[in-house]
Amino acid sequence: MEKQVVTLAVRIIRQSSRENPADAALRENTRKSELSPERLRLVVQAVFDYFRWLPWLDPSIGIGQQLDDMETLQARGVSDAQLRQLTLPNWVSSVMPVEVVWLRSLQQQPRLWLRVRRGFKEKLMETLGDCVPASDDYPAALEYLGRKDLFRESCFQEGWFEIQDISSQAIGHVCNPQAGETWWDACAGEGGKTLHLADLMANKGLIWASDPAAWRLERLKRRTARAQVFNYRRELWDGGAKLPTKTKFDGILVDAPCSGVGTWQRNPHARWTSSPEEVARLAELQINILRHAVKGLKPNGRLVYSVCTLTTPETEGVVAAVNESCPELQLQTQKLLWPYDAGGNGMFYAVWIRRSIGGG
Ligand SMILES: C[S@@+](CC[C@H](N)C(=O)[O-])C[C@H]1O[C@@H](n2cnc3c(N)ncnc32)[C@H](O)[C@@H]1O
Repeated sequence: MEKQVVTLAVRIIRQSSRENPADAALRENTRKSELSPERLRLVVQAVFDYFRWLPWLDPSIGIGQQLDDMETLQARGVSDAQLRQLTLPNWVSSVMPVEVVWLRSLQQQPRLWLRVRRGFKEKLMETLGDCVPASDDYPAALEYLGRKDLFRESCFQEGWFEIQDISSQAIGHVCNPQAGETWWDACAGEGGKTLHLADLMANKGLIWASDPAAWRLERLKRRTARAQVFNYRRELWDGGAKLPTKTKFDGILVDAPCSGVGTWQRNPHARWTSSPEEVARLAELQINILRHAVKGLKPNGRLVYSVCTLTTPETEGVVAAVNESCPELQLQTQKLLWPYDAGGNGMFYAVWIRRSIGGG
């Protein structure tokens, strides 16, 4: 590894903590750095690889030396037994099934997925190059294999595509909103899924996008402008009993705050800062958000719950609690998406239909 790359990677690793996670430290340092985009890419890779292989490394030697050892280890490979013992903190197996195939996927570099706006696929593949279409199940997904800094490309700035994980794209297809319908993206954040819903609706109909974080909705506004999405409204909503509107929806997506275990391939530092207490707290929060959101559904409307985590309390546990406390809902389906299924983040979704009035 080049000296400049090692120096910056070591600085970022030292700054990373529970209060200042590695992805935030990376953003802060790479924004200020004068290294070339190619070298910065290597810094990002070194930092994330370090946290991926942390328990294999010797803490009594310098971080620079540990990074060298890590490269040797990656080239040599590790056994299933070591993966079982070292990949994750012990508490994880008390909240979810842990199979070695998942552990092996966690130790690999994540794949980079784009979601292309309707009508731009051929043009984008030609302009950007190094794009490989995903299976027919994900018609708008392209894997990007190139080295360009995508945020600087004019085709990105003109809104031809978004960077969106393929499992996250799966949630848009599960919602399957139709042109002309009215949807509520209840935990819209920066709008990754709002944009996909709008594209699937051919920008016809209306989407309410809500979140408790005003700064996230501000970013959503910038992203919708770039993607030429105008059929939406933004509202603050904290997940409480007072809904942001009296409108009744054809569909509601609750892409809830979660422990993010499904993103541990992409963001390995989070493995060492998360806790089982957080899993329990977030499961309760998800149940509360769903119980409140359901009041906004029309009869026969669809409620989609998604989380980028795989823990049982946050996934099946939440579904069981909602089934118990919302008799007006009929569960249609629930599914875990593992990183080795489509090659993206681990995710979970469940879909309910609100029974029609008088229906059993
Ligand atoms: C998984 S993120 C949403 C990602 C977004 N849907 C996307 O695809 O880009 C979860 C969101 O839930 C929001 N959130 C946190 N607490 C909440 C609450 N009590 N009620 C509703 N949303 C909440 C967070 O601000 C965050 O934006």
